[in-house]
Amino acid sequence: MFYEAAVFAFFDSDGDGVGDFAGLEAKLDYLSWLGADCLWLLPFYESPMRDGGYDVADFRSVHEPYGTIEDVARLVSEAHRRGIRVIADLPINHTSDRHRWFVEARRPGSPTRDRYVWADDPSKWGEARVIFSDTHDSNWSWDPVAGAYYWHRFFDHQPDLNYDHPDVAAEMIDVARFWLDMGLDGLRLDAAPYLYERDGTDCENLPETHAWLKKLRAVVDEEYEDRALVCEANQRPEDVVAYFGDGDECHMAFHFPLMPRLFMALKRGDASAVAEIIEATPAVPEGAQWGVFLRNHDELTLEMVSEEERAYMYEQYAPEPAMRKNLGIRRRLAPLLDGDRRRIELMHAVLLSLPGSPFLYYGDEIGMGDAHTLDDRDGVRAPMQWDSSPGAGFSSADPSHYHLPVVAAPGYGPEAVNVEAQQADGGSLLNWVREALALRRARPFFGAGGFELVPTGHPALLAYIRSDGASKVAVLANFSDERVEAEVRLDGVRWRPALASGCRLEGRRGEAGPYGYGWFEPPT
Ligand code: GLC
Repeated sequence: MFYEAAVFAFFDSDGDGVGDFAGLEAKLDYLSWLGADCLWLLPFYESPMRDGGYDVADFRSVHEPYGTIEDVARLVSEAHRRGIRVIADLPINHTSDRHRWFVEARRPGSPTRDRYVWADDPSKWGEARVIFSDTHDSNWSWDPVAGAYYWHRFFDHQPDLNYDHPDVAAEMIDVARFWLDMGLDGLRLDAAPYLYERDGTDCENLPETHAWLKKLRAVVDEEYEDRALVCEANQRPEDVVAYFGDGDECHMAFHFPLMPRLFMALKRGDASAVAEIIEATPAVPEGAQWGVFLRNHDELTLEMVSEEERAYMYEQYAPEPAMRKNLGIRRRLAPLLDGDRRRIELMHAVLLSLPGSPFLYYGDEIGMGDAHTLDDRDGVRAPMQWDSSPGAGFSSADPSHYHLPVVAAPGYGPEAVNVEAQQADGGSLLNWVREALALRRARPFFGAGGFELVPTGHPALLAYIRSDGASKVAVLANFSDERVEAEVRLDGVRWRPALASGCRLEGRRGEAGPYGYGWFEPPT
């Protein structure tokens, strides 16, 4: 299990209202108690923080309020001591406009102008979509200093690096080395599809981009042991699998197409879209692995669904316009599911039993809420709620001085949702998640074993078998709010539940109450 955390939001050790590396270190025991195998850190490099740190001003330094490079090294070794790995998010596609390279490139007559991507005509590469569509209507912005337009797939303060320039292609590999040398176990390659631009294309998933990623992989294979490259490519299944190469590109890639379909299935009371996307997902090379997830630090993206499906998702999950951001929904898991414990458990029971490694977003394990009225995606990046105090036990600073405010939505504030209370309550969501993770860990075939859909004859009831030959688990999940009975076309053995709620499997007869789910095993 990968646990995604923002350094600024996890725990503040020095009382300045901003989370830091020493704070993360202090909470490693919590992560190990929960059952995290790997910690994914959002970008922590020097940054003006206009995009949560994805706007990097210096790739070889640590954002000052978070601590020092030594603090990073200590966190990594303390995590390793507990058997937890650490991967760092690396925004490879762009820099902040404060990065030294951009400052130099802009200067009239700059010899290094071409480390970024410039044009005189902003209609160039018009086939490339605009990703931050709420903020921009073009991927070009005019720079009066340079007297030219520069290319940016994200915010206008994030100029895209020009990978055709040898300095760039080489430097970003050296940056990867810098952090791997520090002992980090891998990198999440942010915005990987957009590295190169070519005429007559939509400038995504280009062969040149794959070639650079393969070069990075070769370096990782030759110079390091046991490290992983995790690809962020929000693309269709057939385009995402290309990032595994033939087992010579990224080790992992997020399964973006699956995620919105899980949410859709739940509202429609019909799991067909989930079954279909799994069937449409091409096989991955040996040793490669999907990263499956429900939520992360971004909006719940709806870029890879049809217009009709997007309209449905907005209507069902983002009734207030302020909940929408770009082509997505800026809400956290628990509020999306109306705080309904049955649905939260069902979604986790499916997520944790699908092929791949689950990625959990900090705070979702306790059912944290959000604040969709905050700027950009800040509403899903609130301070972790450790205890019931007004400041949520996040920092000794006055909560009004916190980097981002504590969640205040009714029923979601720290008095109602916090780690301390849930650790003490055997029946809490937190303890349920921990138990589900432990059950999953004891069955390694959940990660990389076989997967087989089982017909149920009922659209709401998703059924599949996970196995490794010797052992197997039958998973049943009722995506509807109605009681469902169906024939599950399985061998008629006597199944016994390893994890279940409102769900039974007897021989071939499956029975599930509203949002009931179960992991069933043949008797040993
Ligand atoms: C990725 C990140 C997102 C960021 C964007 C631009 O999509 O997940 O948070 O804003 O890249 O760097």
